[in-house]
Amino acid sequence: MRILLAPMEGVIDHTMRELLTRIGGYDRCVTEFIRVTTHPVPAKVFRRFAPELETGGRTESGVPVYVQLLGGNPERMARSAVHAVAAGAPGIDLNFGCPAKVVNRHDGGSVLLREPERVGDIVSAVRDAVDSSIPVCAKIRLGFDDVSLLEAVANRIADAGASELCIHARTRADGYRPPAHWHEVRRLQGSVAMPLVVNGEIWKPGHATAALADSGCEHLMLGRGALARPDLARAIRAATEPSGAPWKPMPWVEVAQQVQTFFQHQDSSIRRYVGNRTKQWLGYLRKQYPEAELLFQAVKRSTDVGEITKLIDRSTRGALEEFASAA
Ligand SMILES: Cc1cc2nc3c(=O)[nH]c(=O)nc-3n(C[C@H](O)[C@H](O)[C@H](O)COP(=O)(O)O)c2cc1C
Repeated sequence: MRILLAPMEGVIDHTMRELLTRIGGYDRCVTEFIRVTTHPVPAKVFRRFAPELETGGRTESGVPVYVQLLGGNPERMARSAVHAVAAGAPGIDLNFGCPAKVVNRHDGGSVLLREPERVGDIVSAVRDAVDSSIPVCAKIRLGFDDVSLLEAVANRIADAGASELCIHARTRADGYRPPAHWHEVRRLQGSVAMPLVVNGEIWKPGHATAALADSGCEHLMLGRGALARPDLARAIRAATEPSGAPWKPMPWVEVAQQVQTFFQHQDSSIRRYVGNRTKQWLGYLRKQYPEAELLFQAVKRSTDVGEITKLIDRSTRGALEEFASAA
């Protein structure tokens, strides 16, 4: 079983990939989507999104980082992929799942799921443009309005020579509303000749087991669950792999230290954005850790680097509760 860390624009950046892959359990990461609009994207943009490209295309823990492209023009997508590979990308991932209106209006993301041929043309163009040693993967939803084109889309992607397909088991119309329809992925088993990865609503090991069983997939991708529980991939391996060593859930003190590292690595040059990504992460962590809720409440209105640093530090020492009641 491969476990992939999902691309998440605005929160799973280079620092988050380092932190989560250091905790372990992941086989691969994917960058946040990089949009290809009027011109092919130059190599320097890829290096900015993925500093790992300068170090062999891997995180410090040795986990490969594929570059994700989003766009509707096959030629510009292909030329961008060539630049990404030249910049050091060990693989390319193509996004056909983004539900954002602004992205869909500009001919990218899940809107393309209504046109299986064009999806195939984009994958073909990218596959032909880069060296055959470079994997080209795709990420889709079950469909745009409904699941009626799922097989057509998946078959075009397979015929175009993709190495792997990840399916977020919801349509664009479903948004992020639970549940994820893992069972819908099963209809691709047997007819689509490439490894399939199931994604969506996996928050604990039991969900991973159910997603694999319902979809018939061998591989998983974790998004929000990985943020809510930074050791989720390790916990899933311990629960599902016969040789998996037992795993003790990470205590809050260790998680809070990771939150501090994440915060210290964020760009603090524009005051009003200070702490945004950290607050977003705490928004997921509080689903799992009550201490994260306290910390979130304490930092949510602050844009002061010194103050946020101190508050996280107090949380790492378990002192936030006392602070909260004194305030
Ligand atoms: C804030 C946010 C940002 C996301 N950014 C991306 C992205 O850049 N590329 C992509 O393919 N999917 C993106 N996704 C979708 C996730 O990769 C994933 O498919 C989705 O969250 C379902 O998986 P989960 O239930 O494990 O979170 C994003 C999702 C969220 C919530």
